[in-house]
Amino acid sequence: MNICFCLFSLCVGLLTPCLCYVEYKKTECEVRDQIADCSHLKLKEVPSYLPDNITVLDVSHNQLRELPTSVMSQYKQLVYLNAGFNSIKKIQQGLCQTLPLLRELKLEHNEVYELSEKDFTYCSNLSELNLSSNKIKLKGDPFGSLENLRRLDVSRNDLTTANLGTHPQLQNLQELILSGNKISVLKKDEFSCLSNTSLKLLELSSLPLKQLEPGCFHSIGQLYGLVMDHTKLDSVLAEKLCNELSGTALRNLSLQGTTLSKILSSTFKGLKATNLTALDLSKNGLSTINDGSFQWLQKLEYLSLEENSIAHLTKNTFANLTTLNFLNLKKALTKHKKTPILDDFSFQWFINLEHLLMDGNVFRGITEETFTGLKSLKYLSLSSCSMNMKTITNKTLYSLAQSPLVFLNLTGIGISKLENGAFTWFRNLSKLYLGHNAIIQTLTGEEFRGLSSIEEIFLSYNQKITLSSSSFIHTPTLRTLMLGRTLSGTLDLSPSPFQPLQNLTVLDLSNNNIANINEALFSGLQHLKILKMQHNNLARLWKNGNPGGPLLFLKGLVSLRILQLDSNGLDEIPVDAFRGLFKLVQLDLGPNNLNVLPKFTFDDLTSLRVLNLQKNLITSVENGVFETVFKNLQTLYLGKNPFDCTCESMFWFVNWLNKTNTSVPRLNSQYVCNTPPSFYNYSVSLFDTSPCKDLAPFKSLFIFSASFLLVFLVCVIFIRFQGWRIEFFWNVSVNRILGYTEVDIGENRFEYDAYIICAPTDVDLVERNFTPLENIDQGGYRFCFDERDFAAGVSELDAVVGSMSRSRKIIFVVTEALLKDRWCRRFKVHHAIHQVIEQSRDSIVLIFLEDIPDYKLYQSLFLRRGMIKSCCILHWPVQRDRVKAFRQKMKVALGSSNRMQQ
Ligand SMILES: *[C@@H]1O[C@H](CO)[C@@H](O)[C@H](O)[C@H]1NC(C)=O
Ligand SMILES: *[C@@H]1O[C@H](CO)[C@@H](O)[C@H](O)[C@H]1NC(C)=O
Ligand SMILES: *[C@@H]1O[C@H](CO)[C@@H](O)[C@H](O)[C@H]1NC(C)=O
Ligand SMILES: *[C@@H]1O[C@H](CO)[C@@H](O)[C@H](O)[C@H]1NC(C)=O
Ligand SMILES: *[C@@H]1O[C@H](CO)[C@@H](O)[C@H](O)[C@H]1NC(C)=O
Ligand SMILES: *[C@@H]1O[C@H](CO)[C@@H](O)[C@H](O)[C@H]1NC(C)=O
Ligand SMILES: *[C@@H]1O[C@H](CO)[C@@H](O)[C@H](O)[C@H]1NC(C)=O
Ligand SMILES: *[C@@H]1O[C@H](CO)[C@@H](O)[C@H](O)[C@H]1NC(C)=O
Repeated sequence: MNICFCLFSLCVGLLTPCLCYVEYKKTECEVRDQIADCSHLKLKEVPSYLPDNITVLDVSHNQLRELPTSVMSQYKQLVYLNAGFNSIKKIQQGLCQTLPLLRELKLEHNEVYELSEKDFTYCSNLSELNLSSNKIKLKGDPFGSLENLRRLDVSRNDLTTANLGTHPQLQNLQELILSGNKISVLKKDEFSCLSNTSLKLLELSSLPLKQLEPGCFHSIGQLYGLVMDHTKLDSVLAEKLCNELSGTALRNLSLQGTTLSKILSSTFKGLKATNLTALDLSKNGLSTINDGSFQWLQKLEYLSLEENSIAHLTKNTFANLTTLNFLNLKKALTKHKKTPILDDFSFQWFINLEHLLMDGNVFRGITEETFTGLKSLKYLSLSSCSMNMKTITNKTLYSLAQSPLVFLNLTGIGISKLENGAFTWFRNLSKLYLGHNAIIQTLTGEEFRGLSSIEEIFLSYNQKITLSSSSFIHTPTLRTLMLGRTLSGTLDLSPSPFQPLQNLTVLDLSNNNIANINEALFSGLQHLKILKMQHNNLARLWKNGNPGGPLLFLKGLVSLRILQLDSNGLDEIPVDAFRGLFKLVQLDLGPNNLNVLPKFTFDDLTSLRVLNLQKNLITSVENGVFETVFKNLQTLYLGKNPFDCTCESMFWFVNWLNKTNTSVPRLNSQYVCNTPPSFYNYSVSLFDTSPCKDLAPFKSLFIFSASFLLVFLVCVIFIRFQGWRIEFFWNVSVNRILGYTEVDIGENRFEYDAYIICAPTDVDLVERNFTPLENIDQGGYRFCFDERDFAAGVSELDAVVGSMSRSRKIIFVVTEALLKDRWCRRFKVHHAIHQVIEQSRDSIVLIFLEDIPDYKLYQSLFLRRGMIKSCCILHWPVQRDRVKAFRQKMKVALGSSNRMQQ
């Protein structure tokens, strides 16, 4: 294959790569679905080449000076026109006439100066007009014809008055934004042109307001919402404001960032005669709230006091706020000179409060009466509070015993210990957050006693939590359990701590340096969908060399959807690691040390959509491993691996990349060749596969010749060791068909089939092996042995001569002993040869019991192997299992013709 590679590198080396990254930047309008986006193009004129059926046109952030009707009239279908952030000075008369369907016109950040009545004459269909950040001067009734306008934004225009016209108009207006103007006085008739209007929202933020004339808000038909954020108010002006709002339909009032530092009990008195339901007082630097300040707000449902520096909440601060449903006190009590105080029974009024957010507060701690009276409280968040709550005993949260609490956030408040029965009051609690504390303890399970509805416990980021087998026996309803970066001690427990949690769907064990677990850790968690085990030390468990074999700890997690195993030092994955995870959608094997993955490892992951194998040691992406799992993949992360850019390693992958619809983020930057040296740092996506295709014939040739060679070698070896067997079966089958005996005409006069000449020392062996052939079922041969078959009384010489002449064949059993035996040699052999020559018969069969060289044979017996037919030279087998084959050969030899070969 080296040659193949050389060819390949030569080919690619010639095609020197050229890489140009072009950063995408819009250079012309983009039109899609009747929407034209021409923003940020430095246009000086409205483009006239767009399709005339567009309904949305965005020409914002350009250098336009006007919107000429001659061009605009092409786009008669326009419903939305955004011309913000340009240099438009004037709205051309008749713009609306050319755009009869226009609903929304945005002209913020332009230089519109004068507005006259005629400008919007035909704009009765306009519903939204944004003229924010221009320089408009109002004269007459410019908005008079905007009968259907719902939102008008004239903020930041240096207007000194809020007066938009001389007579009632804008009867459908819902939102009016006047923020950031130079209005310092709200005059009595300021809003008289809105006398027929029901405003949902009036924004008067960031005004330098100094004075409110009586009845200023009463000239508005109906006012439901008022926002005055960042308009400076002191308690006098605030009280004035509330008095002015008295008797209006106001429901929502936002007073964020008004620097109102003190609320007196009279401040909101004017709001008694409203239906105010929401009040936002956040970011005011509030330090004092007098008792009974909110008593007037008897319909209030939502109150935000976020980000203030209230020093003291007493049991009457919130007096009469019985209708409140939602109270935001995040960072409301922050430390200035003294630690803020939260009196007992401060919340006693809130009999309907369901949400209480108190995150990030500093106060002197919780007593047994702090939360008394919160009969409806469901959602309590105390995260990041500083309140000296190191140990949670069964008394700490006692004041909440009457609350039907569902959610409790105790994140980051410095808890170091949970005592038994700490949450025993919370039968309805479903979510409990205890993360980012300093808990050091072994969970016995008693801590969570009584939490009979609990579904989620968050314990991540604590100091040192050790689990025991009983840790969760009181919480079988748990669905989500977060234990990231918090565990110490072993998880090799039996039974598993998670065994009672049969409904568990999310389990986080990440960042715990877990190294020892047993196979039953997750057994029975058949509803588990998300398992986070990244940043542990699981490498050993999956090694082949692990005592007892690789630990298949994911077995049985049939519902698993997301599995995170990043950063575990994994260098091996057993082939069955992911067996049965048919529902897995996301698999993260991020930074690990994986190199070669076994084939078929991922084959069960038929639902997988996201596979992350970034930053491993993968050199080759082979179809055997990845083909099946890549089929349904939506996103693949395989970057930052040391790819080997050779045909064998990359051909399939690069081909797949070319064809697939799967998203492969950062393909161009993170998929880089590491080897061979000639491709070092070369992008995988530029890998040219055509030389691989050219190599295909070579490859098949190679495979062909290699396999041929292999087959040949196998044959040779087989023949060397098992050839006799083939020969045996060949003989058997040939002789089955042709018979053993070649018929020699006129030769049926013999009494014996063979006369046997052997040394006396070999007689036993020979008789033992030859007599079986005399049985009928073995061929029924008759052999002549000297001692056995000679008739008594006849001289031995005569007997030998007689027997030989009555035998069809003469068998020499050749051994060293025979060669040395004088009697045999001198007489029997001599006579036999004599008879053969005399009768011209080819009747000698040689059976070698030992390996006798040809010259010795000649010296002693005057015979050479070449003189005998090959079928009549036999070798006595050393191996027992070959005896059968030998006998077969012998039958052939005995049956062969006696005729001399010419
Ligand atoms: C809008 O006009 C373009 C060409 O001017 C045309 O391709 C497109 O189909 C039209 N769209 C509709 C909804 O009529
Ligand atoms: C307002 O829009 C309707 C279609 O919604 C149109 O028929 C009518 O002419 C438009 N009115 C004006 C004054 O453009
Ligand atoms: C408050 O709401 C009630 C009932 O919805 C209504 O009758 C009353 O007029 C409202 N008050 C004001 C001041 O709008
Ligand atoms: C507030 O509640 C107290 C006692 O419940 C009651 O006497 C008082 O009149 C209430 N204040 C207002 C303004 O309704
Ligand atoms: C609990 O409080 C912490 C800290 O403020 C916050 O990050 C977390 O999102 C809260 N948990 C929930 C579920 O709101
Ligand atoms: C609270 O714990 C103490 C011991 O720490 C125990 O005597 C008492 O019975 C417990 N109270 C409840 C209600 O479990
Ligand atoms: C597990 O969930 C099922 C179905 O939501 C529910 O019927 C069963 O009571 C739950 N088991 C436990 C122990 O909460
Ligand atoms: C990708 O596929 C197209 C057509 O399917 C083919 O023309 C092109 O050569 C391929 N590119 C590579 C790098 O294989």
